[in-house]
Amino acid sequence: MADLDFTLNNGMKMPAIGLGTWQSEKGKVKEAVAYALKNGYRLIDCAYCYGNEDEVGEGIREALASGIKREDIFVVTKVWATYNTRVELGLEKSLKNLGLDYVDLFLVHWPLLMNPNGNDDKFPKKPDGTRDIIKDFNHVETWKQMEKLVGTGKTKAIGVCNYSKKYLEELLREATIIPAVNQIENHPALPQQEIVDLCKEKGIHIMAYSPLGSTGGPLFKDEHILKVAKKHNVSPATVLLSYHIPRGSTVLAKSVTPQRIKENLNIIKLDDEDMKLLNEYSNDLAKNGKLQRFVYPPFGVDFGFPDKS
Ligand SMILES: NC(=O)c1ccc[n+]([C@@H]2O[C@H](COP(=O)([O-])OP(=O)(O)OC[C@H]3O[C@@H](n4cnc5c(N)ncnc54)[C@H](OP(=O)(O)O)[C@@H]3O)[C@@H](O)[C@H]2O)c1
Repeated sequence: MADLDFTLNNGMKMPAIGLGTWQSEKGKVKEAVAYALKNGYRLIDCAYCYGNEDEVGEGIREALASGIKREDIFVVTKVWATYNTRVELGLEKSLKNLGLDYVDLFLVHWPLLMNPNGNDDKFPKKPDGTRDIIKDFNHVETWKQMEKLVGTGKTKAIGVCNYSKKYLEELLREATIIPAVNQIENHPALPQQEIVDLCKEKGIHIMAYSPLGSTGGPLFKDEHILKVAKKHNVSPATVLLSYHIPRGSTVLAKSVTPQRIKENLNIIKLDDEDMKLLNEYSNDLAKNGKLQRFVYPPFGVDFGFPDKS
């Protein structure tokens, strides 16, 4: 199943599984990226904010030197919130870091503006120590700039991350180009069905991030996941990653551990009974107000997520 592709709304093909690089330490991420690409991954997810694009680029170059073709891999990166009024500059900086002429997909990382003239390139702070966020900023302005990138040859597709139904509806009202992708936190403990369904209706592909529950994979211990894993005699990671395929989503798993990178390509077909069990688990969490969102930076902004609003 590692070869499974989805088709985006602009006709491009996107692999079903990708390697994440958030918190992938320098000194390890080059090897992880090169290893992944040489062992069957074709999608690498990066971001300016992760601070490691230069080493990710080295890993990509090592893989290309081994005979893998650039056109056969799919590179994603994201504009960081201090660049949301300067998205072309953000893309150029990422391309320079990565050592690439183009990316396949460029995403808005978060729909807010952090002070572009603040005291730090990525995380500016006010004198009182709080985050320096420009409150009266309309995120659609960023999308209008993203639309201008299509046709420059610097990215093949554009999309967003962390868009709720409320934010996506605001964007779609003014968009000329419909985002190809919405990259969101997604797993059985946070199915985000409302936004997943809206994206499906509008032809926007979901990329699921933090599928294992992010750092340390906290979802591995969940009894529902363990039950399905036992039934199929696979690891909890395999269940958590395989969950996204019947949902029609691409899934991103981060690892810098070669054995896990390889293991995470092991996608199995979950049957209706498995999906029913996992969906019931999600519904119970929702009903009891126990959904788990693992990635929620303290921006102090209401992004319109029902579990946080
Ligand atoms: N757009 C956004 O705002 C956004 C936000 C968050 C994440 N993302 C993207 O999505 C990617 C994935 O999400 P994530 O990094 O938050 O978390 P994740 O992939 O859910 O989990 C990563 C953690 O699980 C461990 N792990 C990976 N495979 C494993 C396995 N088979 N068995 C046991 N442990 C395993 C990793 O450890 P080791 O590395 O030590 O092996 C790491 O601690 C990110 O790297 C990033 O590219 C995007």
